[in-house]
Amino acid sequence: MKVQLLTEYVNKNFNDLNKAFSLEINDSSFKENPFLRIYMIYEKEDVVAYLSFYHEYEKVEIENIEVLEEYRKKGYGSILMDELISFCKREKIENITLEVNELNDSAIRLYEKFDFKKVSIRKGYYDGIDGILMERKIAMKDTYILGIESSCDETSVSIVKNGCEEIATVVLSQIDIHKNYGGVVPEIASRNHVKNITMVIEECLDKANMSMDLIDAIAVTYGPGLIGSLLVGLEAAKTLSFVYQKPLVPVHHIMGHIYANNLVKPLEFPLICLVISGGHTELVLMDKHLSFKKLGSTLDDAVGECYDKVARVIGVSYPGGPVIDKMAHEGNNNYKLPIPLDDNSYNFSFSGLKSAVINLVHNEEQRGNEINKEDLATSFQNVVVETLTKKTMKALKEYNVNNLIVAGGVAANKGIREELTELCEKNNINLSFPEMKYCTDNAAMIAAVGYFLYKDGKTSTLELNSKSTSELK
Ligand code: KG4
Ligand code: ZN
Repeated sequence: MKVQLLTEYVNKNFNDLNKAFSLEINDSSFKENPFLRIYMIYEKEDVVAYLSFYHEYEKVEIENIEVLEEYRKKGYGSILMDELISFCKREKIENITLEVNELNDSAIRLYEKFDFKKVSIRKGYYDGIDGILMERKIAMKDTYILGIESSCDETSVSIVKNGCEEIATVVLSQIDIHKNYGGVVPEIASRNHVKNITMVIEECLDKANMSMDLIDAIAVTYGPGLIGSLLVGLEAAKTLSFVYQKPLVPVHHIMGHIYANNLVKPLEFPLICLVISGGHTELVLMDKHLSFKKLGSTLDDAVGECYDKVARVIGVSYPGGPVIDKMAHEGNNNYKLPIPLDDNSYNFSFSGLKSAVINLVHNEEQRGNEINKEDLATSFQNVVVETLTKKTMKALKEYNVNNLIVAGGVAANKGIREELTELCEKNNINLSFPEMKYCTDNAAMIAAVGYFLYKDGKTSTLELNSKSTSELK
């Protein structure tokens, strides 16, 4: 793929463009309007997408953006728009405008996806039909968010630029402490957060080589999570906000997990998100940034919790998820386990599966039989993967969505990654997972979504309190 900007008539390029899109741009098009500029995307010898615009002194106005049918939903529109935004930044142009026919819903949706907002109506502009003037403001300055996460047993601080570029992250995990108890002990977790939080903040600023004056806002997880743990991060964030006079942005922990994907590549909408963590199992539909429609969720245990309990019953130390995942790749599917909630809904249920594993282990023990742990891990993981992927693929189909992202600690699971990769390839779905290190709790994901919340004005006063339970909405 190659992107090319044309600012004058070049015979060969325009022949290619005219041929691909049945246009009639010629020499005189540029003579009549010397402000015309065109970005083209070439795939090998063919033009597959273009964006035409007028650059008139301090103004940029989009004329048209088109992608060949067979190249749609592959991110070419975003590539063109990113090029135009970089162009505007170089030329110090602060906004892009365009006009669109009010009946052209698909174009309006596309422009809204690229952050264009309706600013006024031009009455009867298109042969009696209203035209809508849309505008996108270009931020000349980068925005740095400092994120703080302490909802469970990780003390983490991160600085992220513009919601997508990680500058520095520090994660201090307490796993080794809690391992001795077979799970997270809330009181011990909060005490360790208190001990570590100041040091982790300082270390992150050092790593980024930045001082607090360069930070635009402080984003912090307010819930859900362990209340004592949450309070430590929240108090630290409030203190920084007060001392350095920076806006405070409250973040829902699960929103953070979802936006860990924005650190890989910008989210493309509409999308379905499969949230699978230690506390959540949900299918969520997003039409745009910060809009979450829950399609279904677990009726009892979360999938990560189920992994940890199954691990404990077969004698694997906390957190068991990663170990079971590894064992599942070494065994055979020899144990028959029930498929949970195999219905038409988007809800999940894992407590029955957990009980089935526990009963199986106890029954075998009573009979004096040894359990093949690898085989049990394989059989268990197969059922989990099948349940999760089946409902996810059904949701993509029913809602006619082409983008799938996965979020939460269990997104690190190899079995789920492999199966979804295969299914998405077969069904032409764009699939994204967070980087492995950002699947489990971290502050980079909090700072990433913090950026979008901050830009949307979702800041809070210092009265902010933490919440142990909180719905994603
Ligand atoms: O998202 P997370 O860090 O915590 C919550 O916000 O709940 O997820 C932690 C969970 C734990 O239950 C852990 O066992 C599970 O994610 N987990 C895994 C894997 N890696 C972590 N589960 C299955 N397979 C994995 N590879
Ligand atoms: Zn989490």
